[in-house]
Amino acid sequence: MQQKLVVFSGAGISAESGIPTFRDANGMWGKYDAMKLASVGGFEEDPQAVLDFYNARRKNLLEVEPNHAHRVLADLEKQYDVTVITQNVDNLHERAGSSKVIHLHGELTKVTSSYNRLDTNCIKEYPLDVPIRLGDKAVDGSQLRPYIVWFGEYVDNMDLAEYLVKMADIFVVIGTSLVVYPAAGLVNYAHMEIPKFLIDPNDMKGGMPVGFEHIKAKAVEGVDVLVRRLKEMEE
Ligand code: APR
Repeated sequence: MQQKLVVFSGAGISAESGIPTFRDANGMWGKYDAMKLASVGGFEEDPQAVLDFYNARRKNLLEVEPNHAHRVLADLEKQYDVTVITQNVDNLHERAGSSKVIHLHGELTKVTSSYNRLDTNCIKEYPLDVPIRLGDKAVDGSQLRPYIVWFGEYVDNMDLAEYLVKMADIFVVIGTSLVVYPAAGLVNYAHMEIPKFLIDPNDMKGGMPVGFEHIKAKAVEGVDVLVRRLKEMEE
């Protein structure tokens, strides 16, 4: 029986694919106002600005590729039962070949209703090069919006994510600052005695979570260190 390897990823894993993170130097929230562009209030106040912001990010997704880190995690499926729990709204894990990916904060490839965003009849794949326009309607007749979890909105996959981390035999955190909750709380659900790794070139602002080995490297190098560590553990 393959060991369950659960990966929890954030913006840092896609940084080397050319997608900026949120809180690093040159991060998105240093340039854009998160409350204006990633909240229900902001969408009500200036929907065009929000649609422009996400349409640009959707279009940019066509111009980037998965990197070595995404590919190595997909490749680990040969030896492990791998599940990726990601805060990222890009589709780079899937494009790299990861077969089990859970998005906590939504997906840029999808749209939904601005009346009830969790209505599964309204959640649709939407071509990345087709801008979401004011006046575009969801199935329920409401204004179409990106299928993204905005600040203050309920994160609907958390129960499943907590269960998967609890069941993990190996837990890997990669490229997240662990400052956004409830997602950041996932580090507390992994069993104390299992091997836990955190891949990040920087120190964690809130301090390292207990029991994690810090692989202090960028994702692309850090995953190779991870593979070596996993091999050593097998021996
Ligand atoms: N490789 C690995 N990690 C990296 C790299 C890299 N090349 N570059 C930066 N990092 C690390 C940073 O040190 C930081 O710890 O990635 C982390 C990025 O943190 P954030 O920008 O805060 O991104 P994230 O943790 O994913 O944000 C969480 O916040 O804005 C919301 O919904 C959005 O999902 C997002 C959530």
